Amino acid sequence: MSHTSSSCSSCTFCLFLGISLANLLGNGLNISTIACGHHLHTPMFFFLLNLALSDLGSICTTVPKDCVNEELCSQWL
Ligand SMILES: *[C@@H]1O[C@H](CO)[C@@H](O)[C@H](O)[C@H]1NC(C)=O
Repeated sequence: MSHTSSSCSSCTFCLFLGISLANLLGNGLNISTIACGHHLHTPMFFFLLNLALSDLGSICTTVPKDCVNEELCSQWL
C-alpha cells in the first residue's frame, strides 16, 4: 500500500472492484427477477438462472484471487 506503484495498483483494484460489483448487481437482478416472476418459470428462464448463478460463482472466486495477486505482485516490483 505504501509503495511507489500503489497508485497504479489501487487503480487496477478499483477497476476490478467496479467491474465485479456491476456484475454482482446485474446477476442479482437477473436471479431475483427470474426467481420472483411466477410467469418466468419456463425452461428458458431456468437456463438463464443457471447461467447467472454460475457467473456469480465464478466472479466470487476469481476476482478476489486476482486482487490478491495484484497486491502481492506490486510489492515485488
Ligand atoms: C441478465 O439477463 C439478460 C437477459 O437474459 C442478459 O442479457 C444479461 O446479460 C444478464 N445480465 C448479466 C449480468 O448476466
